[in-house]
Amino acid sequence: MTSQEIREKFLKYFKDRGHTIVPSSLLLPENDSSVLLTTAGMQQFKPYYTGEKDAVRDFGARQTVSVQKCFRTSDIDETGDQSHLTFFEMLGNFSFGGYFKKEAIEYAWKFITEEMKISSDRCYVSVFEGDGEVPEDSESITVWKELGIAGDKIQKRGREDNFWGPTGNEGPCGPTSEIYVDGVEIWNLVFNQYYCRPDKTLEPLKQNGIDTGMGLERLTMIVQDAPTIFETDLFLPIIQSIPHRDIENETRAVRIIADHARASAFLVADGVFPSNVGAGYILRRLLRRAIRYGKIMNFDKNFLIPLSEKVVEMYKKQYPELAAKREDILTVVQKEEEKFSGALEKGSKELEKILAEKSDKIISGDDAFKIYESYGFPMELTREIAAEKGFAVDESGWESAFKKHQEISRAGVEKKFGGHGVNEQTLKSEIHNSKEIKQIARLHTATHLLHQAIHDVLGHEAEVRQMGSDITPDRLRFDFSFPRRLTPEEMKKIENIVNEKITLDLPVYSAKMSKEDAIRMGARAFFKEKYPDEVNVYSIGDPDLSKAYSKELCGGPHIARTGEIGRFKIIKEESSSAGVRRMKAIVE
Ligand code: ALA
Repeated sequence: MTSQEIREKFLKYFKDRGHTIVPSSLLLPENDSSVLLTTAGMQQFKPYYTGEKDAVRDFGARQTVSVQKCFRTSDIDETGDQSHLTFFEMLGNFSFGGYFKKEAIEYAWKFITEEMKISSDRCYVSVFEGDGEVPEDSESITVWKELGIAGDKIQKRGREDNFWGPTGNEGPCGPTSEIYVDGVEIWNLVFNQYYCRPDKTLEPLKQNGIDTGMGLERLTMIVQDAPTIFETDLFLPIIQSIPHRDIENETRAVRIIADHARASAFLVADGVFPSNVGAGYILRRLLRRAIRYGKIMNFDKNFLIPLSEKVVEMYKKQYPELAAKREDILTVVQKEEEKFSGALEKGSKELEKILAEKSDKIISGDDAFKIYESYGFPMELTREIAAEKGFAVDESGWESAFKKHQEISRAGVEKKFGGHGVNEQTLKSEIHNSKEIKQIARLHTATHLLHQAIHDVLGHEAEVRQMGSDITPDRLRFDFSFPRRLTPEEMKKIENIVNEKITLDLPVYSAKMSKEDAIRMGARAFFKEKYPDEVNVYSIGDPDLSKAYSKELCGGPHIARTGEIGRFKIIKEESSSAGVRRMKAIVE
C-alpha cells in the first residue's frame, strides 16, 4: 500500500463515519501566538473544544478529519533513528462534544486491524493510570477489553506518557490511550476533558472532545514493512537522490539531511524565511545543520538543491503550495548554503582551535558566542559539534555572553535611534531584548521598501507623500497621501514588490551627506520632520543613490541586507484622515 493510499483510506474511513474532511492548516499558526509552529492536528481546532466556535456551523458536523503538516523541534536530536522526524504528517480525527472514548477507541482499532490489516498480535495499548488530580481511565480499559485486548497488553502509565496537552501555554488537554505496533507508538488518542489554565490548574471542559494523532510516516513504515521511516516511499526517493556511500555512521547523517531538506521545503512553502528569530531561526538551524553534514560527507556544493527539487516533485500533488513556492524554496536553500559555506569552514577551524586549547573539555560562553556572532553557527550546532568531540558548552556562560551583547546593542540602538516618528521613551520601554531590536530594524528597512513600492504602483496617479510612520516590534504603520482606497490588486502588487526585493537580498547602505545633496539626488524625506543640515541617507541595492532602489533620509536602525526581513505581509489598509491612507504590515 502506498502512503498516498493510506492518506486516502484514512480520510475516507472517517468521512464514511460522519467526519468532515478539513485541509491541513499552515505550519505557521494563523490565530495562535502561543506556539511558533504547528505541532499537532488539533491546533487549528482549539476554539471548537472550548465551545468558543461551533463545529456544526463551520463544518456541518461535530466531527472532523485531517492530514496535518506538523513540525516538532523537540525531536530534532532524535531525528535519524528509526522513527523520529522534525516535519511529519499527522493523521487525525476529532470530535467536539460528539462521540467520546468508546467510539474513538473502536474507530482506531478497526482502522488499524481491518483497514490497515495489521495483526493484533503485533499491538499493545496504554492508558492513563490515574493520579491525585485525574482518575484512572477505567472507561478506556473496559472498551479495550471489550475489543478483545488481553489485560497484559493494556499498560497503565502516568502523566509523562499518557496525558496530552495543552499546546502552548493553555488549552484543552486530557488523558490518552496509545496504540503501539512492534513497540513503536503510532497512534495517540487524546480524551479532552480539561482546560489547562496558564497556571497549570485543570478545569473540566464544558463538553468532552476527541483529538487523535497518528504519524503517517510511522504507519507507512509498519504497513510497508520497512525497517525505518526512511525506507518508506515517503523518504526513499529523497535519500536516493543524494549520492552517498553506505557506511553505518553516514546513514544517520544522510537521514538527517533528508529530513531537514524536506522540513525546510515545507517551511518555506508556508512563508518562513531564514532569520535569527522565531520560525526563521528554526529554518536556518535546519539548513545549516544539513549543510554541515553535507560538507562532512564531501557532497558537492549546492547538494541541497536536487534534494529540495525532489521534495517538491514528490509532494506537490498533495501539497500544491510546494509547487507554487518552488522558486522560493530553491532560492532560500541556495542562498543559505552560499552564506554559510565559507563561514562554516572558517568557523570549524576556529572551533577546532578552541577545542585543542581546552583541557577541561568545556567551551566557554564567550567562545561559543564568538562562533555564533562571527560565523553564524546556531548555538545548537556548536553544542552538537562540541558533543561529538566529547566537549560541553558552558551554558550559563553562553547566556551571560548573549545578554551582555543584547545590552550593548540596546544601548547602541537607543543612542542612534531616530526618524519614522518613533518616540524614544516608548522605544526604551518597548525594547526588551535584541530580538526586538532586530525586529524593529527589519520593520524599518521594510518601511523603506514599502514606501518605494507604493510610489512604484500608485505614483503615476497622484502625488504620494509620507504622512507618518510608526514602528512597534510587532508591526509597521505607514501613512501616505492618496485620494482613494487601494484595490486588492494594488495591495498585492505592492506586497509582491517588497517581497521580491527581500528575495533579492539587496544590501543596505548608509552615508552622511548634506541635506541639499540628498534631496537633489532624489532621496525621500518626511516633510513634517525637521532635518539637520547634515543627514544620514539609507539606500537599498546600491551605494550610488542614482542606482539604488530606495533612498531615504533616516536615522535607522536598519538591517544589513533585505533578505533578513523575512516575509512581508500587509495586514490592513484603511483611511487615516481625508486624503490619507494608513497601511499596517508585519514581517515574519
Ligand atoms: N494531539 C495529539 C498528539 O499530538 C493527538 O499526539
